[in-house]
This record gives sequence, C-alpha cells and structure tokens, in this order.
Amino acid sequence: MSLHLLSPAKVNLCLRVVGKRADGYHQLVSVMQTLNLADRLTFESSKHDLLECDDPSIPTGENNLVMRALRLFKDETGFKECFRIRLDKKIPVEAGLGGGSSNAATTLFALNLLANSPLTNSELLELSAKIGSDVPFFFSTGTALVTGRGEKVTSLGSIKLQKISIIKPSFGVSTIACYGALGKNFSTAAKYEKAYSNGEVDFMNDLEAGAFGLSPKLAELKEQLQSCGFDQVVMSGSGSSFLCLGDGELPYFDGYKMFFSEP
Ligand code: C5P
Repeated sequence: MSLHLLSPAKVNLCLRVVGKRADGYHQLVSVMQTLNLADRLTFESSKHDLLECDDPSIPTGENNLVMRALRLFKDETGFKECFRIRLDKKIPVEAGLGGGSSNAATTLFALNLLANSPLTNSELLELSAKIGSDVPFFFSTGTALVTGRGEKVTSLGSIKLQKISIIKPSFGVSTIACYGALGKNFSTAAKYEKAYSNGEVDFMNDLEAGAFGLSPKLAELKEQLQSCGFDQVVMSGSGSSFLCLGDGELPYFDGYKMFFSEP
C-alpha cells in the first residue's frame, strides 16, 4: 500500500524583518499563502529508509529535509517502520517558494498518519520548527500570519487575491547570504502585526534590498516586471522568485520558469 500526498509551495505576500535575535536568526512579521503549485510525495513500506527524486540535481541523502523529518519523527516517537519515499519535484529550489520546507512538513504529516497519530497537530508543529523556520507554516490552513523566526503561525481567513503570476530566474539566492546582507534598520513589529493580522497586506519585502545587492539582476527584473501591467510585484521570501498580482503579462527570459495561480 502506498500513500500519496501533495506538498504545496508558498509565497510571502509581505515580509518585514523586525529585529535580530541573540541566536542569530531574524525576527519576522509576514503573511504567507500556499499556492496550487505542488510537489508530490509517495510513501511505501520498505526494508530500509530510502528517498528517490525525479530531479537528479536534488541530493537525496541525510541532509535532504525529507530525510531529516523522517529521522526526527522516528527519534521523537520511537516509530520503527521504514519507507521508500518518492519525491516528484515541481517547486523550484532556491526560489523563496518553500519547497524543501513543505516537503519536510508533508513528511511529518504522512508519518504521523502512518504511525496512527502519536503526535497532536501542535506537537507536529513544534517538532517541525526544529527542521527549519518555514516548516511550521505548512501546518496552517493555507493563509497565515507568521512571526518569531517563522515558527509562530496564526491562520488567517483567506485573503482575496487577484491572479498570481510567478517568475523564477534561472539563478537562485542563498537564504543565509540574503539574511546576511540585511541592513540594521528594522521595521516596527507592532504596526505590521496589527495590519497583517487584519488582512491588510502591503506586498513589501524587507529582504529585497539585500537580495538586490547580492544579485543586481534581480533589481532589474523587478523594474521590468513593474512595467508589465501588474498591480503588485514583490519578491517571495529570500528570492529569487517574484510574485506578480493582477492582469499583467510575464516577459519571456530563456531558462526562467513561470507559474500561474488563479484565485
Ligand atoms: O531556519 P532555516 O534553516 O530555514 O534558515 C536558514 C538561514 O536563514 C538561517 O541559518 C539564518 O541565516 C537565516 N534566517 C534568519 N532568520 C529567520 C529565518 C532564517 O536569519 N527568521
């Protein structure tokens, strides 16, 4: 018997960096939204744990977030069964679309199902934060206010959005480098927490300036996208994808990927 699950991408509709923490992480206020772009994960009983991926450029060893989720779940619960996990990848990597984090969340969810639910949803959420800052969001209902380093997730009612077009350049941005390139002028937490929890999203991303410093081509891309008829153009997470809202048309660039999500 096998279990098939979709593992959706996310975008940050807005992202404010409101401080730096003693542990080196940054304090965020963001609104995240799942997309209908998704990877697919299949779990089958096996003699050994094994991950296979249709994209040969993705490492399938112990450092893959799917394998880290599997190890963490087994350590936490004592669950002993082994699985052959197949990952069919549609979400691009180094895109700011949360692909790896989503795969980890889906793996925790699947294992909990296969192990007859030893963990509650809030225990799963707490465990998921050990894998990465973006992982807990994927236990929300699809639109959420995200605070802390990303691990505090409050589901919001769905926000009325126009058509979303996403463009992913052929190059990525390293999340660590992007946070490292941040200045020291932080946004004000209380103001944005209040506005965003009321669904007043402003399509601003404080990580853009650092990412544009690292990859000036991203600043040029944003300018071009802004002249294509969209109502809003904003980088997602630490890049390099941009989400564009409204009726504009994405320009064509060789090697760049495009995705569309209807409201
Ligand atoms: O949590 P995750 O492993 O996904 O984060 C990757 C890197 O991004 C961290 O090592 C840190 O440099 C940066 N980061 C941060 N503040 C956050 C989330 C990530 O500084 N809230």
